[in-house]
Amino acid sequence: MHDKVLILDFGSQYTQLIARRVREAQVYCEIHPFDVSDAFVRSFGAKGVILSGGPASAYEAVGWRAPEVVFSLGVPVLGICYGMQVMAEQLGGRVAQAGRREFGQATVQVCADSPLFSGLADRVDGEGRRWLDVWMSHGDAVVALPPGFAVTARNESTPIAAMADEGHRWYGVQFHPEVTHTHQGRALIERFLFEICGCRGDWTMPAFIPEAIDRIRATVGEDEVILGLSGGVDSSVAAALLHRAIGDRLTAIFVDNGLLRAREGEEVRSALARHLGVRVMSVDAADRFLAALSGVSEPEEKRRIVGRLFVEVFEEVARQRPNARWLAQGTIYPDVIESAAGKTKKAAAIKSHHNVGGLPERLQLRLLEPLRELFKDEVRALGVALGLPHELVYRHPFPGPGLAVRVVGAVTREALTIVRQADAIFLDELRAAGWYEKVSQAFAVFLPVRSVGVMGDNRTYEHVIALRAVESEDFMTARAAELPWELLARVAHRIINEVSGVNRVVYDVSSKPPATIEWE
Ligand code: XMP
Repeated sequence: MHDKVLILDFGSQYTQLIARRVREAQVYCEIHPFDVSDAFVRSFGAKGVILSGGPASAYEAVGWRAPEVVFSLGVPVLGICYGMQVMAEQLGGRVAQAGRREFGQATVQVCADSPLFSGLADRVDGEGRRWLDVWMSHGDAVVALPPGFAVTARNESTPIAAMADEGHRWYGVQFHPEVTHTHQGRALIERFLFEICGCRGDWTMPAFIPEAIDRIRATVGEDEVILGLSGGVDSSVAAALLHRAIGDRLTAIFVDNGLLRAREGEEVRSALARHLGVRVMSVDAADRFLAALSGVSEPEEKRRIVGRLFVEVFEEVARQRPNARWLAQGTIYPDVIESAAGKTKKAAAIKSHHNVGGLPERLQLRLLEPLRELFKDEVRALGVALGLPHELVYRHPFPGPGLAVRVVGAVTREALTIVRQADAIFLDELRAAGWYEKVSQAFAVFLPVRSVGVMGDNRTYEHVIALRAVESEDFMTARAAELPWELLARVAHRIINEVSGVNRVVYDVSSKPPATIEWE
């Protein structure tokens, strides 16, 4: 049994970051909504509880409270931002609109000897006072401490910037230790986990493998499992893990839809089939996909076609494994959190991301999701521990509809060939220059316009390739990577010289928002 930390979510945009920081410290944690039942909290068996921030006002929002049982479990509690305020309100203190709202970088003075802050300082001033650089984002503040609490950090705008009841091991911080702008934030979270909660840091991927294998075996018994291999990291790692657990009772199905990048199908097949011995069934469905996409230029229509055909082809192949009772998917923890949040929050549909929802029922299969507790960086560490090649495990994300959304407008074989060649040149050069792993995603886009150029003494009238490279934490926001000029010039030169049909290359410098990462 691993040590576990329970994170109760009050809707902060940073809640996932809290969980990532805890996992990075090798402590297992789960995020649950703040209104879970007392019985759930008791049975969770947490070594510590973290209350997240959130958009509500602690003195207004009736019902936005932590379950009372949190304060009678006898385990340490850390309230962050709204989590601190709700803790203050529930334990007899008072919260009010702050005299001065604080958003952004701030400094606070540590003003008590609390184990949460021991040894932490960004600066010590002439009078020996310790200061921390922190990230604030609040309009309300604790204005009266609950009984038993003392102020542990303050600044001019927020006289109660942190508080503690050391006897009960209840802690509150008004700032956000989970964001990197709070320079000692990681250390502070580690102090809470190790010094205060007494966690051991026993959550590692090599330790996860045997447990996951036992769980998979206990779940599927003697049944067969099928899995759709997309070429992405998650499904590849899920396949490698399942293969360790059940060997040949796993069949991975790889659908070549003609929308893959150069060498992609071959790389995935060789890593899994040749290298690890996974049984991979490949199906070449390129003609079928390209015929269905012919003449379609509307992005959402393309996504629908690719999604529908993928399900159809997959179903046909899956029926060839009549003994399969399970469909495995590479669902990871952020997908689980987002789909739970998606049920309650309203989010505008910007792009309909292609997935295989609905498939298990149609095929009468049960769903197996062996990675559903893991964050992306943990999936990668697991992939490496399972023996998958580093290049596969650390490759950039690739959208389900593939190159269909990287050929702007109608998808033709000619455009696919061009974008595939240009993309391969761009990625090769990025790797050679050591930039591939510095950016979060990079690719080439085919634009459906022609521009005039000159080659030798002749006029050309050919296509344009756009290059896109972005840096992003979570792909919800992104900024264009500042690639070195010589690198961009080299890539452009090679593409124009080596890819016939292209006479111009442009670099996309837009941020997301307002642009998106993909062009469609
Ligand atoms: P956007 O373009 O929305 O992309 O800024 C954010 C991230 O999602 C990927 N993406 C997709 N992934 N199916 C997918 O599986 C899709 O339809 C899809 N559209 C975008 C994109 O590559 C980026 O990583």
